[in-house]
Amino acid sequence: MQVGHPFKIAKNGSDEYFTPAYAVQPVKKYLKPNSTVWCPFDTNESHFVKELRKEGHTVIATHIENGEDFFNLKIDCDYIISNPPYSVKIEVIERLFELGIPFAMLIGVVGLFDSKDKANLFKDKAFEVMYLSPRVGYFKDYANPVPINGIPYQSVYLCSKLLPKQIVFEEVNKNS
Ligand SMILES: C[S@@+](CC[C@H](N)C(=O)[O-])C[C@H]1O[C@@H](n2cnc3c(N)ncnc32)[C@H](O)[C@@H]1O
Repeated sequence: MQVGHPFKIAKNGSDEYFTPAYAVQPVKKYLKPNSTVWCPFDTNESHFVKELRKEGHTVIATHIENGEDFFNLKIDCDYIISNPPYSVKIEVIERLFELGIPFAMLIGVVGLFDSKDKANLFKDKAFEVMYLSPRVGYFKDYANPVPINGIPYQSVYLCSKLLPKQIVFEEVNKNS
């Protein structure tokens, strides 16, 4: 459903970092079976889409390159799960809280809570954080998924109404 949200963005090269399959695994156990999951920054090539479908969920993948702007959509689903564009991560989080649907977004934790505006954004919200260890190595090309050199920051899943407690720690298995 199109909702005509006023926020629009242009494509930004720094947003084109893709998530390996192993980084999707830690979220799976927290989802109810046979759920409907919206992956709003994803094409059918995305490992979020592939891994969650393998798990038996119904996955609705939308992406700006198919004319589907997250800020203009509202999709009926049980969860919203993805790795969002970094250039607008705060706007994405604001919109997710506005939608009120349980979510898990894989994002860098550095600077996430460290300004007055961000404290205001989070202070009255239901949210949880899943720390991942070791760090996730993103890649730039689905056809050649070689992790980028060096992993500059720690990724977490910022979640809402999804984890059983406010902070959980999960290990990722890079061979899975
Ligand atoms: C960090 S990448 C992650 C892609 C995928 N979720 C993954 O993890 O492999 C974020 C993607 O969101 C796309 N994007 C940027 N703005 C968007 C918008 N407003 N609506 C939908 N997709 C958008 C970008 O083009 C980019 O491919």
